[in-house]
Amino acid sequence: MNVRTKTGRRRYRTVKFDAATNEVVLIEQRLLPHRFELVRTRDFRATARAIMDMVVRGAGAIGAAAAYGLAQGARTFRGTSLTSFDRHVEKVFEVLKEARPTAVDPVNAMLEVRAKMAAGRTIGERQNLALAAAEHFADENVAHCEAIGRHGAKLIRTGMRVLTHCNAGWLAFVDVGTATAPMYAAQAAGRKFHVFCDETRPRCQGASLTAWELAQQGISHEVIADNAAGFLMSRGEVDLVIVGSDRTLGRTGEVANKIGTYTKAVLAHRHDIPFYVAIPLSTIDWNLKSGRAIPIEERDAAETLGAWGVTRRGRREYVRVANPTSGARNPGFDVTPPELITSIITPAGIFKPRELWRHRARLGGPA
Ligand code: MRU
Repeated sequence: MNVRTKTGRRRYRTVKFDAATNEVVLIEQRLLPHRFELVRTRDFRATARAIMDMVVRGAGAIGAAAAYGLAQGARTFRGTSLTSFDRHVEKVFEVLKEARPTAVDPVNAMLEVRAKMAAGRTIGERQNLALAAAEHFADENVAHCEAIGRHGAKLIRTGMRVLTHCNAGWLAFVDVGTATAPMYAAQAAGRKFHVFCDETRPRCQGASLTAWELAQQGISHEVIADNAAGFLMSRGEVDLVIVGSDRTLGRTGEVANKIGTYTKAVLAHRHDIPFYVAIPLSTIDWNLKSGRAIPIEERDAAETLGAWGVTRRGRREYVRVANPTSGARNPGFDVTPPELITSIITPAGIFKPRELWRHRARLGGPA
């Protein structure tokens, strides 16, 4: 998307690869919206750390970062034995996979890269195929988000008030985003609407990232405290909810997404407000049979006990909010059951959550 900086307006991808230096280039998301900076990871371990520390975050963006990270790791191998090379790639795969557990996109992305690499007969061929496959994943991620925009734009009419949770925008993908894709497409079609961005405690991706994106894009929006959504819904001030997902089960239609999504789905159901989930195909997990089996990331208690912000002097600082002697639980994600979801917007069209399995051939699922 286009980013306005001091030097003008430029188009950026959230994640890209510099083949000459073998570095992954990332937007440093922890500094946004206060500072726009690019960072480079020099090896696959640094890429894994950037995913773990949330320099790059969001299901599709960490999927692309992992795909590039795998290619980056493969390209540093200097030996001559194909068996050792494969063992090295396996280690790189495991390190990147461990970085964050809930989103399935990194694993799906790396499996795709690994499968394509297997066609190479030499180490050099496999290294080249790895990078080509990672580039393909990133490009396809953008194409999927654009297609989500085409399918989802019709849901947004002029005058509507749309609620979204966390950041499933272009920062969470390579470009365009998923929950935001219908918004950007509706805007391009000349429609005027308003977006409520859930603040999304504890890391505030809605208040910081989604609000920044929408401001960059000139879309009318306001940040609301997470607890305000129910009140606004009860007063008829929300017409539609669109969220993203980190893992959607193809067999059951259950949706894992940022903590607080389930609460919003319950509220939307109570108030008869359509609740949509937007996903690229790499977010579908065709294997798990139950939402209970989704690994839910438990994050550092410090996130819940305090908050990061920027001082008047521009310094990024953490402040403790909670009682100093109290601990905290901090699950990063929750799971919304299919009966609370109106439909799922995919690049192949809009489906009822329980119909994903029936349409698996169109959605890149198993035979
Ligand atoms: O913990 P994050 O910021 O990586 O959270 C993931 C997400 O971006 C959200 O859950 C989002 O709604 C899913 S779509 C990428």
